Amino acid sequence: MFTSIAGRSVLVTGGTKGIGKGIARVFARAGANVVVSGRDTSAGETVLRDLAGLSGSVSFVRGDVGLAPDCERIAAETIARNGGLDVLCANAGVYPSARIEEMTEADIDAIFATNVKGSILMVQACTSALEFSSRGRVLLTSSITGPITGYPGWSHYGATKAAQLGFMRTAAIELAPKRITVNAVLPGTIATEGLAELGDDFVAQTTASIPAGRLGSVEDIGNACLFLATQEAAYITGQAIVVDGGQVLPESLGALEAM
Ligand SMILES: NC(=O)c1ccc[n+]([C@@H]2O[C@H](COP(=O)([O-])OP(=O)(O)OC[C@H]3O[C@@H](n4cnc5c(N)ncnc54)[C@H](OP(=O)(O)O)[C@@H]3O)[C@@H](O)[C@H]2O)c1
Repeated sequence: MFTSIAGRSVLVTGGTKGIGKGIARVFARAGANVVVSGRDTSAGETVLRDLAGLSGSVSFVRGDVGLAPDCERIAAETIARNGGLDVLCANAGVYPSARIEEMTEADIDAIFATNVKGSILMVQACTSALEFSSRGRVLLTSSITGPITGYPGWSHYGATKAAQLGFMRTAAIELAPKRITVNAVLPGTIATEGLAELGDDFVAQTTASIPAGRLGSVEDIGNACLFLATQEAAYITGQAIVVDGGQVLPESLGALEAM
């Protein structure tokens, strides 16, 4: 049904693990030429092995999205390798836990540097190439945490994920004349390497709170991004799409028990 992805040039930041790796797999399977980036070269090499043999190509560029020169280099290398850029998935993110009483200034700076500054810097670095594409797409990986829900220990994280949406709305207006759309995907709880580090209790309790009865898969998020990147989605911009199996819907534990 959606046939406009084959041959597109796609950059996925934070594509070496988790959701970003899932996004990369979905796009490469659809025939896109994908560059994944991250700070960890050995994780990047693993992705190249894991995603070999799909319809589109996959390559790796090392870089830290919290640093402007790295963002410029990631964008430039992607454009050079794939002959341009059509889709930026600004997905790199971190979610360390810290309660308000114990949170340090360094904790706050670090999470904003990757999640907020990193998203903005990557969009800046990619805007010219996305304009040249004439069908440019920016897809931000936000979260339900912050824009919709809260969780103790993640007040700073939630602030970054809500900030991404604030950025998105003005970016969508500014970039519309360049025929670039800017949208966000808000994952619920998705089974990733990063999530597994939060422990079995967290995973079990969260699974029990999701009407769909399972955690999301990284490909659930990749499929939403794929749709927003198609030509058929060209008129959707500045929107936040929740992909969470109904996780935000129950108004009480009773609502889940009554299912
Ligand atoms: N998992 C969930 O349930 C969930 C839910 C809602 C939203 N999200 C969002 O989804 C995104 C991905 O999360 P995930 O669960 O897939 O996490 P993950 O498994 O920990 O993977 C995070 C990715 O981001 C990269 N990264 C982190 N900091 C970076 C930096 N400064 N510069 C460049 N790359 C960086 C990591 O690569 P390196 O380590 O190689 O740098 C890795 O590829 C995040 O934005 C997160 O907020 C996740």
